Amino acid sequence: MTGEILLEARDLAIGYDRRVVVSGLTFSIAAGQRLGVLGPNGGGKSTLFRAVAGALPPLAGSLVIRERVGVLPQTQRSRLDYPVSALDVALMGALARHPWWRSAGRAERRRALEALAAVGLADRADSLFGELSGGQRQRVLLARALVEEAQLLLLDEPFSGMDTASATATLALIDRLAARGLGVAIATHDLDQARRFDTVLCLNGRQIAFGPPAAVLTRPVIEETYGGAIVDVPGGGGGILPAHHHDHA
Ligand SMILES: Nc1ncnc2c1ncn2[C@@H]1O[C@H](COP(=O)(O)OP(=O)(O)O)[C@@H](O)[C@H]1O
Ligand SMILES: [Mg+2]
Repeated sequence: MTGEILLEARDLAIGYDRRVVVSGLTFSIAAGQRLGVLGPNGGGKSTLFRAVAGALPPLAGSLVIRERVGVLPQTQRSRLDYPVSALDVALMGALARHPWWRSAGRAERRRALEALAAVGLADRADSLFGELSGGQRQRVLLARALVEEAQLLLLDEPFSGMDTASATATLALIDRLAARGLGVAIATHDLDQARRFDTVLCLNGRQIAFGPPAAVLTRPVIEETYGGAIVDVPGGGGGILPAHHHDHA
């Protein structure tokens, strides 16, 4: 089910102004794979996504990216005040690939509408982006990445602040996109969700572990990832959760 390698990091270190924030990254994402990225707040998840998006040069090691990357940044809580519709935002994905002076044509509009339909928002095309819920805005940004024809999607805590309906729809969409051959990396605080993915990467200033969830998500790895700040799930069953389960912007 998995295909060509879309991204490969080897002994990669990344950070800001030559200050390393995450080191020892050795992992890959293949076509068709969903990678869960786990770590405490400040562990380096967003920094990794910025590096993969090309915004931060590697400070050591290597990072090879073979396909177009689409990024959904961690949600901004502020609402956009300028009047762009959901369709306008999805269309930006088409304009990114064409000279900016070419206005969007019929084909681009159709692709943008198809992408909004794929994320379950066909009926919100004309809604103002800033008036959508946080979860709906995330899905519009996902539609924009689909219009860009990204082969590798980076979703930075997409479920934070999402209502259950949006989260369920987005998870199902992630599954469909992976089945179509896209690679998808999802930063999440939800261990149960990460167990459903193909691989997981645990970060806490450095790579703690990478591999299939069943092999990686052992208690010692989870303790090291969250600095011991974990709690047993009430009711037993051996389940454990990061203690700081709440969302951070
Ligand atoms: N723009 C920035 N400039 C300098 N340091 C930053 C910047 N953004 C994040 N950091 C630092 O990098 C570390 C990792 O942060 P981040 O990647 O946001 O973690 P996470 O997304 O896992 O919560 C933190 O110590 C944070 O303070
Ligand atoms: Mg983050």
